[in-house]
Amino acid sequence: MQERAIVLSGFMGCGKTTVGKALAEALSRPFCDLDDEIARRAGMPIPRIFDALGEDTFRQLEREALGSLPSLEGFVVASGGGAFTFPDNWEAAKEHALVVFLDADFPTCYHRVKDSDRPIVRRSTPLQLEELFRSRYPLYQAHCHRTVDASPLPPQVVSSIRALL
Ligand code: S3P
Repeated sequence: MQERAIVLSGFMGCGKTTVGKALAEALSRPFCDLDDEIARRAGMPIPRIFDALGEDTFRQLEREALGSLPSLEGFVVASGGGAFTFPDNWEAAKEHALVVFLDADFPTCYHRVKDSDRPIVRRSTPLQLEELFRSRYPLYQAHCHRTVDASPLPPQVVSSIRALL
């Protein structure tokens, strides 16, 4: 029998993709980045989806991508930072996967994403991003099966996750 997927959640910059790839390698499991999957399905990168189709369409595509979780048995999956802010998404993820929240504080996340082309970062002031972080943080905490400290370097975070499996 296949093992259930491991889905990593948390704010932009907490390390979901980097840690996810390293964890998948360490566990000899396949890796899926949901943002890449959304971009592949839409035929355009995430910033362009936001610009050309709008955030609501992106969220719909995100919901559909999460709907594919049952077919991602055994995968390590990096979700997008907004995915776990919608009840239908977290319900689907919790039903089909082990959800691990990568817990990093706002300064750590902000430092990692401030110069990126993420649409939410581009359109927000640092204060607005911090408010978004504060509003989402309790949701990440409440809708996970495990929490790990995501402030250390990725190999340490991978070890912490492995210890919790
Ligand atoms: C988003 C986070 C991004 C991506 C999109 C929206 C968000 O993913 O899904 O830009 O709402 O926080 P990462 O968390 O991988 O950067």
